[in-house]
Amino acid sequence: MSQITLVDCAPQTGDFEQDLISGLSETPKTLPCKYFYDRRGSELFEQICELDEYYPTRSEISILRQHGSEIAATIGSGCALIEFGSGSGLKTEVLLSKLSDPAAYVPVDISREHLKLAATDLSRKFPDLDVVPVCADFTDEFHIPPERLNGSPRTVYFSGSTIGNFEHSDAIELLQRIAQLCESGGGLLIGVDLQKDRAVLEAAYDDSEGVTRDFNHNLLRRANAELGADFDLSQFDHLARYDEQHDRIEMHLVSRSDQQVTVADQTFEFTEGETIHTENSHKFTLQGFAEVAAQAGFHVRSVWTDPNEYFSVQYLVVDD
Ligand code: AVI
Repeated sequence: MSQITLVDCAPQTGDFEQDLISGLSETPKTLPCKYFYDRRGSELFEQICELDEYYPTRSEISILRQHGSEIAATIGSGCALIEFGSGSGLKTEVLLSKLSDPAAYVPVDISREHLKLAATDLSRKFPDLDVVPVCADFTDEFHIPPERLNGSPRTVYFSGSTIGNFEHSDAIELLQRIAQLCESGGGLLIGVDLQKDRAVLEAAYDDSEGVTRDFNHNLLRRANAELGADFDLSQFDHLARYDEQHDRIEMHLVSRSDQQVTVADQTFEFTEGETIHTENSHKFTLQGFAEVAAQAGFHVRSVWTDPNEYFSVQYLVVDD
């Protein structure tokens, strides 16, 4: 296993207290979904990925397994694979095992601790691969020293349909930054969740074991633990519903009663049925995603789907 040297871009981690207070002061109340992922939230998300109802992870892995050789041929030999987020474990392994002679694997993650663990694990499994972990917030500008990429063509890998968690304008901005990072000759391999039957979608975000409910509640548990807030979790229901107007699953926490909650000496009133909007997960048609990609300067070269056409893996290249 070769020596791993982390590139540290010293990312800002966000101000939970300030974002919570400003989100609860809005009408309707909101909370940014990036706060789901503390240690407990990340564990719950891993459990979600294993659930029968949560089809995205399973579908994406099956696409990589089934079409891996074709995907590798499309990407070409000797690329530096730059992964946005380092949490996709098995998917990364499947992809790397299919790629022809990758020059480097470059996971980019905001969590230094998680990044180091993931990079070490990957390096053990692929001892000949140059692993270059980059601690950065990929939703913001960051710089990878070009010499760490061995002068190779760049392929950004952005899995899990995390792009669906962004508002369209933010998704376009992020894709534009990815297009700059790819440079000409590079590309983006991206997981994109597709529109489907409402019942399948809503079950995926409101599973029978209640793991997604716990994941949603974890925001409140976290506010209590870290900020001394006094949310009573039993007084908030988990709600996941498909909004056909915006083509997205919305997750909310719904107040079961008229109640008051205190956060950092500020009191917030809830009426019965009032919600905190905690996450959007947009679902695309192939045509709709191609239009979003085009606004960022990409065109879609290839699309692979699972037999149900629930999920897609797409390879995008930068417009000439
Ligand atoms: C991380 N992201 C792609 C997940 C999704 O499906 O939107 C987050 C998630 N929220 C609830 N379940 C999973």
